Amino acid sequence: MNKTFFSSLCLAVAVLTPFNMAYAETKPEHGEYRDWRLLGVSLRHDKNSIRAIVGNHVAINAARAGKIKPWPDGSIIAKIKWGERKHPNWEQATVPGEFTAAEAMVKDSKKYAETGGWGFGIWEGKTLKMLDQEKSAPCFACHLPMKDSDYVYTLPNLQ
Ligand code: HEC
Repeated sequence: MNKTFFSSLCLAVAVLTPFNMAYAETKPEHGEYRDWRLLGVSLRHDKNSIRAIVGNHVAINAARAGKIKPWPDGSIIAKIKWGERKHPNWEQATVPGEFTAAEAMVKDSKKYAETGGWGFGIWEGKTLKMLDQEKSAPCFACHLPMKDSDYVYTLPNLQ
């Protein structure tokens, strides 16, 4: 390692450390979805919110094979939500701000037959808590217009 490279490295560490430490203090606990692959992204301007939509391997394989009408049993789709903010070093770039929530749709056509074969849930830290039928009703109601796409809004963008 030459001297100039080493001093640049030290400088980089010095510059980056306070940011990383500040981030660590507010870092949320994420569920297993953090290892899943991307299906799509969305922006809700009315809610100033950025979302990543990811899928477990069953969902990803189905999306890549174009077999999502219906999505197969075992598919789990997660929607991870952050507030939006300008990048501190490049204000033309909008990037995720504070993490707000992660929601799930779990496909099991028998267990969740009453709600189109989908169970609706919310991650509490690392644990996915499935909502009971009463609490799932408003979720399902809002996903009903997507009946022809098996109640899923996201159009897989990375197949
Ligand atoms: C007011 C309408 C509305 C309600 C209520 C609602 N959703 Fe959605 N949901 C959407 C829309 C629109 C999208 C796609 C755009 C986006 O990313 O927000 C979506 C996307 C999703 C996705 C990604 C898969 C997909 O369909 O694109 C999941 C997972 C999800 N919602 C879970 C839930 C859960 C769980 C609940 C209840 C706790 C819920 N939703 C309630 C409107 C709604």
